[in-house]
Amino acid sequence: MEPSLQSSNTSSLPLESKVILVTGAGSGIGKAVALGLAKKGATVVLLGKTLEKLNAVYDEIETAGYPQAAIAPLDLEKATEPEYLHFADVIYQEFGRLDGLIHNAAWLGELAPMELQGIENWNKVLQINLTSNFLLTKALMPALKNAPKASIVFTSSGVGRKGKAYWGPYAVSKFAIEGLMQTLADELETNTKIRVNSLNPGATLTKMRRTAFPGEKPETLPTPEQLVPAYIYLMSEQSQGVHGQALNARDLI
Ligand SMILES: NC(=O)c1ccc[n+]([C@@H]2O[C@H](COP(=O)([O-])OP(=O)(O)OC[C@H]3O[C@@H](n4cnc5c(N)ncnc54)[C@H](OP(=O)(O)O)[C@@H]3O)[C@@H](O)[C@H]2O)c1
Repeated sequence: MEPSLQSSNTSSLPLESKVILVTGAGSGIGKAVALGLAKKGATVVLLGKTLEKLNAVYDEIETAGYPQAAIAPLDLEKATEPEYLHFADVIYQEFGRLDGLIHNAAWLGELAPMELQGIENWNKVLQINLTSNFLLTKALMPALKNAPKASIVFTSSGVGRKGKAYWGPYAVSKFAIEGLMQTLADELETNTKIRVNSLNPGATLTKMRRTAFPGEKPETLPTPEQLVPAYIYLMSEQSQGVHGQALNARDLI
């Protein structure tokens, strides 16, 4: 099915009673998305590295009167498979299902020619941007399968669809995310109602973007808040049937 924002679902709370996990929810795009999903009625599980940032988003959700969020501090670089399994077990015990999983957290790493890339940087970027996505998805699969129609979103990038000089392991990790998405989508095509897609947010005004392009004029970039409708669409019934696709947020907002 072609992605389309035209739908008969006009509810002001299209995500009411959905439980959705957002990684990297303490800042940048993840924070804006977590707040935007909560505003649309979702119970959001806020996963991230820095507890203070997650607490601040939790408080913002509470102050706004949105459904109470949950906080999951987890370092995606260091977490072991048993820790992912324990976390998934807590989610299952608490909610009994997971309606949405947004893999958003990522690490830019060092931008440099391949011949100058160090193995530590390589391993860290691949661990956070790729391996954690695999481990988290694997651990959460029972909860995702227990939801009526779960939606998984992997976050890609322009450099994950066309290679670009000096983007090193970050670009490689995003290409691999597309492979993970396609492989999983094909597996889940039969016998499940889970849909899986990748989403390229496109250039967005965040800390990561400022690090990669320090000379860029901030006013030329969209804010994370402007992307939120794309994520609401992918988490809501509107995107039923959109599966296995490499999407661009710009096409969905
Ligand atoms: N911004 C853009 O222009 C752009 C373009 C294309 C794709 N993207 C993609 O969009 C997503 C969001 O990017 P962003 O621009 O919002 O980046 P960002 O501002 O750097 O935020 C990254 C988020 O990931 C979390 N994170 C990083 N390392 C982590 C770890 N080890 N464990 C747990 N969480 C960790 C951070 O948490 P802490 O703050 O606690 O460290 C932060 O919340 C990423 O997947 C990125 O690759 C962004």
